[in-house]
Amino acid sequence: VNISFENQTALITGSASGIGKATALLFAENGAKVVISDLNEAGGEAVVTEIKQKGGQAIFVKTDVADFASQQNLHEKAIAHFGSIDVAVNNAGIGGVWSKLADYDHKDYAQVMCVNVDGVFFGMQLQIKQMLKQGKGNIINIASIAGLRGLNYSSAYCASKHAVIGLTKSAALDYARNNIRINAVCPVFTRTPLFEKIFEADASYEEKLKRNIPMGRYGTPEEIAQGIYWLCAEQAGFMTGQAIALDGGMTAN
Ligand SMILES: NC(=O)c1ccc[n+]([C@@H]2O[C@H](COP(=O)([O-])OP(=O)(O)OC[C@H]3O[C@@H](n4cnc5c(N)ncnc54)[C@H](O)[C@@H]3O)[C@@H](O)[C@H]2O)c1
Repeated sequence: VNISFENQTALITGSASGIGKATALLFAENGAKVVISDLNEAGGEAVVTEIKQKGGQAIFVKTDVADFASQQNLHEKAIAHFGSIDVAVNNAGIGGVWSKLADYDHKDYAQVMCVNVDGVFFGMQLQIKQMLKQGKGNIINIASIAGLRGLNYSSAYCASKHAVIGLTKSAALDYARNNIRINAVCPVFTRTPLFEKIFEADASYEEKLKRNIPMGRYGTPEEIAQGIYWLCAEQAGFMTGQAIALDGGMTAN
């Protein structure tokens, strides 16, 4: 299937690294003008350079997704520069600390909720206002298999990703008649800096966690990017309000 995003703008948060970066590169390779946004300025600028070297178009806007004013600045700059937001991927997220619920520090809990939940809520508000003016748009929120099931030592992360799926479904219903499709993807453990932090804490987890994945391996950022990309294509035009697992079969278990 030939899927092209020529003359379209894709805005991706947390795109200096991991899944966001792989998604930005994939959209750019297929013709999209890409807005890279992240707290990490050096990493974000490096992705812009890589896209431009390959002949694509991209800008970087330093953004804290948990801060509404910062998100407003991001969306204003994106529209001023490229004229539209056709695809928005609310991807920026943090894992939080690895701790049982009763021991979970309140500040750590609040931080996970601010970045993972407020970040998606604020982003969608701004994206939807623009997409209503355009008469079309596609939003993908990055949840996790932790949005579909429980996970030990990860109560705040799990709660935040369940919330992302709730926001996705509700927003999809609100705008189903406005030609705005809103879906979530739910990756299993994927080899990115966020995930590798678990191995830093305890190297034995590398083998242990893999055993729970029916395919017997971790996902790659590129495989997750492909799922996001397909959901934004015309070919997926009847899908909205879904939480799609990209998980090597884990949630089939
Ligand atoms: N890697 C996995 O195993 C996995 C599995 C399921 C879901 N996810 C989700 O995928 C998304 C991307 O994660 P990743 O694994 O690529 O991680 P990553 O750490 O490689 O990338 C996340 C990026 O988000 C940025 N970021 C963090 N807080 C931010 C903020 N407040 N404002 C703007 N940018 C911010 C970071 O600087 C980083 O560049 C996250 O939402 C994560 O929860 C990851």
